[in-house]
Order: sequence, then structure tokens, then C-alpha cells
Amino acid sequence: MKQRQLGQQGLSTSEIGYGAMGISIAYGPSDRQEGIATIRRAYDLGVTFFDTAELYGWGENETIVGEAVAPFRDDIVLATKFGWTRDYGQDSRPEHIREVVENSLRYLGVDHIDVLYQHRPDANVPIEDVAGTVKEFIDAGTVKYFGLSEAGPDTIRRAHAVQPVSVLQTEYSLFERTVESILPTLTELGIGFVPYSPLGRGFLTGTAKPAAEYDATDMRRTDPRWQPGNFEKNVEATRQLTELAATKGATVSQLALAWLLAQGDQIVPIPGTRSLKRLEENVAAADLTLTTGDLERIKLILPTGGYGARYTEAFMPTWE
Ligand SMILES: NC(=O)c1ccc[n+]([C@@H]2O[C@H](COP(=O)([O-])OP(=O)(O)OC[C@H]3O[C@@H](n4cnc5c(N)ncnc54)[C@H](OP(=O)(O)O)[C@@H]3O)[C@@H](O)[C@H]2O)c1
Repeated sequence: MKQRQLGQQGLSTSEIGYGAMGISIAYGPSDRQEGIATIRRAYDLGVTFFDTAELYGWGENETIVGEAVAPFRDDIVLATKFGWTRDYGQDSRPEHIREVVENSLRYLGVDHIDVLYQHRPDANVPIEDVAGTVKEFIDAGTVKYFGLSEAGPDTIRRAHAVQPVSVLQTEYSLFERTVESILPTLTELGIGFVPYSPLGRGFLTGTAKPAAEYDATDMRRTDPRWQPGNFEKNVEATRQLTELAATKGATVSQLALAWLLAQGDQIVPIPGTRSLKRLEENVAAADLTLTTGDLERIKLILPTGGYGARYTEAFMPTWE
């Protein structure tokens, strides 16, 4: 698979990465061994960028990812994140960052983390203090690259002035376009971009069901895009995208990922799946090229994204 550069500090990854969150949380019950097998298959297919976080099971997901990548750890880029509290508040105080990093290293079973993200900005801790703490880890070699998630332009600039930021991770997909207002800042500063939930949490795969049909632990039961009124419109848009994809011998999931890759050279999506078959489908999106005509058609189907917010109000990130 082709590689892409993220930022100006030397970070290079496969152009499609892998997000491991769903192995532990968010989308209903999972099987640990299937998760490990999927991660290993991803590596066999050329994926070298693996994404996890403390939040994804408070060590459980990092343990699974660490075990899965152990045979090829030195050949890949391992990314994790800090900053949440157990009651879903923010805590990026330097002492908390240090504690989380120590735990992440242990759970992952590694002596360094390649990309360390602040998972969400913390209104109570100046971003300069966060960047300064990550810088200490980078200077010590325990962390290689600094990332932010769901940060706004001002936060990104202030962080970048203390410790160069290699990558911003924020939700971006055919359904969710808000972050496009920040992409020029990233280009100006030479920062890479990692779209998370690039398949719209699975809606952009043609497999969406009405909210009530998901497992009780599945967050899509309350995702606004799945609620009546929005759901039907999103199903119809996905149907039209599926038709377009079929004319290219591709699936709608592949079209959604190829669209992201076409938005810029410093963009690396990290789709998540627990299925080998779906993984193979997603990775093959790297071979799909969209023409100007395809991109125009997509613009007509979804000019500004899908219907419904990406989070319920309580969890909606705010950018500064
Ligand atoms: N920074 C942040 O705040 C943040 C927030 C959310 C996510 N993330 C990261 O981004 C990664 C990806 O996001 P995501 O997992 O939320 O969403 P996603 O990749 O948009 O979608 C994942 C969902 O789509 C399904 N799926 C994937 N490929 C499919 C295919 N080809 N056909 C049918 N269904 C398919 C998966 O189901 P199965 O597993 O059942 O196949 C899963 O339910 C996460 O794993 C995590 O690492 C970061």
C-alpha cells in the first residue's frame, strides 16, 4: 500500500490505517480473538497505522492491540490517546498525562508510543502545559509524535508553538464535514489529518439498521443520524452513493474511503471493523480512484454532509 506523510516531523504511514475502538466499545459485543486476527490481517494487507486509546476500555483495547501487533511492532505506527476521566470528563493535567502514558506503555507492552494524542482539549489546562508535557516524553524518546483530537485552530496553533503537532484526528466523512473549516490551518502549519469514523460509524457501508435494532450497548441507538427523520434521508443518500460505487465496481464503503483520500495528500483515514472480510474491503479502497466526474456526482448527492449531528449534545466537542 502507498504511504502518506503526516506532518513535518517524519511520520509516515500506510494511506489507510486501522481504528481498533470497536473491538472494545461503541458497537456492541466483540470477540477478542477476532479482534487480534483482524489487526494481524490488516498488517498482512499493508496497514501500518493502528489507533487505540485509554478510553477504549481503560486498558482493554490497548492490551488487545499490543498483543496483536507484538510480532511486528517495530514495523508499524502505534497511536494512543489520553485525557478522559472515568466519568467522561477531561483531565489533561501534566500529572494525569504522565500516569496515563505509563499505563499505556504497560498495556501496549511497548517501550515507546509512536503517536500520542490529547483525546479532547481540556478547558482547565492551558494547551501549552499539555504540549510541554508531551514534549518531555518526545525529548526522552518515549513518544515519537504529538497529535491532537477535536482541537480548534487556536488550540492547534498554541500547541504547535510549544511542540510541533504532527497530526490532528477529528471526525470526517461524507456525512460529517464540519472539520473542513480547519483543514486550511493544517495545510498552513504542515500538520497531517486523520479522519476518524470515516465510514460514518458504519452508516456509509449500506448496513445501517433503525436505531432500535442495535445492541443495547451500541451507541448508534442514540446517534442523531440514526433517529427517525434523519435516518431515512441518510439511507437514501447512501443508496445513491452505492449506485455510483457500483458503476466503478466498488462498494459504498470503498467510495467513502476513496473520497477522503481524494481530499488531500496529508489525510489518512482509520476505518474500524471486527470482520476480516470487511477489513479486506476497506483496505482495497486504496486502489479506487475517483474521477472529477465522480466527485461532482458525490457533491450533488451530499453537498454538505449527511443528516443529523454526529454526537448527542452532551458529547458534542467544541472547538477553540
Ligand atoms: N478521536 C476520537 O475521538 C475518536 C472517536 C471515534 C473513533 N475514533 C477512532 O476512529 C476509528 C474508526 O472510527 P469508528 O470505528 O467510530 O467508525 P467507522 O470506521 O466509520 O465505522 C465503524 C463501523 O462500521 C462497520 N464497518 C466497517 N467497515 C465496514 C464494511 N466494509 N461494511 C460494513 N460495515 C463496516 C463496523 O462494524 P464491524 O466492526 O461489525 O465490522 C463498525 O460498526 C475508531 O476505531 C477509533 O480508533 C476516534
